[in-house]
Amino acid sequence: MSSVAQILETMEYGPAPESDAPAQAWLDGKGCSFELFVGGEWAKGHGARFDSINPATGKKLASLAEATAADVDAAVKAARAAQPGWAKLGGHARAKHLYALARLVQKHSRLFAVLETLDNGKPIRETRDIDIPLVARHFYHHAGWAQLLDSEFPESAPLGVVGQVIPWNFPLLMLAWKIAPAIACGNTVVLKPAEDTSLTALLFAQICGEAKLPKGVVNIVTGAGETGRAIVEHADIDKIAFTGSTEVGRAIRLATAGTGKKLTLELGGKSPFVVFEDADLDAAVEGAVDAIWFNQGQVCCAGSRLLVQESVAERFLAKLRTRMEALRVGDPLDKVTDIGAIVSPKQREQIAAKVKKGVAEGATLFQPKAACPEGCFYPPTLLSDVEPASTVAQEEIFGPVLVSMTFRTPTEAAALANNTRYGLAASIWSEDINVALDLAPKIKAGVVWVNCTNQFDASAGFGGYKESGFGREGGREGLFEYLKEKAAKAPAAAAAPKPSSEPQLEQTDAIDRTAKLFIGGKQARPDGGYSRAIVSPSGTLVGHAGEGNRKDIRNAVEAAVKAESWANTTGHARAQILYYCAENLSARVPEFIARIRVMTGLPKGVVTKGMDLCVRRLFTAAAWADKFDGAVHNPPLRGVVLAMNEPQGVIGIVCPDEAPLLAFTSLWAPAVAMGNRVVVVPSEKYPLAATDFYQVLETSDMPAGVANIVTGPRDSLGQTLAEHHGVDAIWYFGANGKKIEQASADDLKKTWAPGNLDWFGPDAEGRAILRRATQVKNVWIPYGA
Ligand code: NAI
Repeated sequence: MSSVAQILETMEYGPAPESDAPAQAWLDGKGCSFELFVGGEWAKGHGARFDSINPATGKKLASLAEATAADVDAAVKAARAAQPGWAKLGGHARAKHLYALARLVQKHSRLFAVLETLDNGKPIRETRDIDIPLVARHFYHHAGWAQLLDSEFPESAPLGVVGQVIPWNFPLLMLAWKIAPAIACGNTVVLKPAEDTSLTALLFAQICGEAKLPKGVVNIVTGAGETGRAIVEHADIDKIAFTGSTEVGRAIRLATAGTGKKLTLELGGKSPFVVFEDADLDAAVEGAVDAIWFNQGQVCCAGSRLLVQESVAERFLAKLRTRMEALRVGDPLDKVTDIGAIVSPKQREQIAAKVKKGVAEGATLFQPKAACPEGCFYPPTLLSDVEPASTVAQEEIFGPVLVSMTFRTPTEAAALANNTRYGLAASIWSEDINVALDLAPKIKAGVVWVNCTNQFDASAGFGGYKESGFGREGGREGLFEYLKEKAAKAPAAAAAPKPSSEPQLEQTDAIDRTAKLFIGGKQARPDGGYSRAIVSPSGTLVGHAGEGNRKDIRNAVEAAVKAESWANTTGHARAQILYYCAENLSARVPEFIARIRVMTGLPKGVVTKGMDLCVRRLFTAAAWADKFDGAVHNPPLRGVVLAMNEPQGVIGIVCPDEAPLLAFTSLWAPAVAMGNRVVVVPSEKYPLAATDFYQVLETSDMPAGVANIVTGPRDSLGQTLAEHHGVDAIWYFGANGKKIEQASADDLKKTWAPGNLDWFGPDAEGRAILRRATQVKNVWIPYGA
């Protein structure tokens, strides 16, 4: 026992444990044994049983049912049966249900917090003050969206049944992020919690009953990877939402390829934490603590790569080491604990193995002297003198391990920050707003925190760039992931106009011209030296088009990558160039009409209408170039969150044969208007209208490399685009969508492969396409000190 004098000397805290009795009583009340929650009832699972373990003590908490494929099927059927009624209730009635769920989460917040801490090992301070309040906030916020849905999204409809698979690091919070927007929009869900942390999801199932949520709206099935796979592969699910490892995310992309299931993936990260020499270093040290030691570093957006300006690196690291000595690792139920237990022995082993590898690769290891308990705990760790290419600087460790590197200039900071296949988040520390806001748009990440870190709110979208996945959760941008356009037609319904019965127009100039490719602002001969004959429906030769190959696609992508400055060209300037294109096209309309008629044999009226729409769509794209604004979100923070619409980067576009110039224009023009560069494969059968378009581009001041056109075999060129790591997104119109989506899985590029569209209808222009051409970056800027 310490004397008062000793306590005053050391300023040591005594333990302040939270009682686990209410949570234990709840578990005991269930006999420490759970089944599945299907159609509003507890349903017996037919698979093996497995245990949920408290990682801090190694003791069993409960026995859980593993859902088999048949159990998943029953849950999907319950969700399907409930969906029409749930959607029909309308936004106002659904809002009341979400509101009731939020109230009940608050009412049971202490029970939820303690149960989460027991099951996951995270400190009670975090579950009590962060996880559970954010869960309630998510349901409240989305109750509001349900209320506003009919007036704010009049053109949208729910998707139907949504399958959701979540990880163990924020068990109830991830459930809220998935379920709240889905049900607010009128969908019903089948959700699988992670096998290590299912208990709060089961308590949530119970409160769905207390809230009198209609049966079948929320279904919870427990189990591991096989259960997740049964959800992903279920034929009657309309959308999959997944958070977890990049490896499983890739497997899900492959499994859903070609099925038409909507998909959002929120995957791993290796987020930079950038400290400039003019930062408030003490504040930045506290920021680093929150960035990497919050939730034991088991956070997808953890600031795990410290980039500190060389001039202050030594000072900053010294302060950080001192601060690390004060971090308390131990009993997660103790209110003074900073770092609790790692979720499982397996995860702990992985962390230890990666740290060992880092040291073997030359990193300097620092861990505080204070004792770290035996068992499933890992001390806060700093690896300095790390090479940017080393394993620990590139791979996600998903534990309390910070790796540090230095930089000299802001340019070098941006390069190092982006030197990763991930792009989830970044944190920037500088007292100079110009320095911070200069870097924020340069970092390729979905969330950027300025002088703060790990901030989350239901009003601001969260999600990644690059291999961190796609889609956003939270905010207005997150709702689109759970809605579809009411007007959307099934791909097969978009019928191509029939060829004309009018006498066919034939080519009058018999000169056999061979169109080249258009790469880097110049007409280029195809690499293979081949061309293909383009003939009219009556068999007359119309001309030749270059036969592009892999090499041509690579050259085109290289040109597009080089034209990166287009992304920073002002919307106003982009608009001027697109208006110029539109004017130049409209001056040549009769010539294009004749060309399209000769190639396609379509009636004059259809072609004329299509040409008129082409010119209009170019004007529309130009009009949007400086108007597709972002938003300012208002989370409960003294500050603002800027939601900026940024271009995807390089988009590969593979056009259909229908409406050859109209489809081509409807796709490339909005993409370029939003600041993307494109590599377009025009209609394989009727490419000559697109090749005639080269002259329009050449005379319209379009910078070299922004719009590249490669004619040739659609599917193999599309495949090359889908496989190319320089391409950030692919839009494909044709019958080979499955293969394209499979090929895109390697670097998780965003795909849009709907089969076809009604090119004459409203789906082929407007905000829905602009959203595909952009990705939202949320920049958090707190006010004041
Ligand atoms: P995981 O990706 O295997 O698990 C996430 C969820 O997916 C769990 O519910 C799991 O049961 C389910 N799942 C596993 N295989 C599946 C499949 N084939 N089809 C459908 N669902 C499947 O992650 P795990 O194994 O728990 O952790 C491994 C690593 O993943 C961690 O060390 C960390 O690096 C990363 N991770 C990233 C997370 C993030 O938030 N980005 C969260 C959890 C883990």
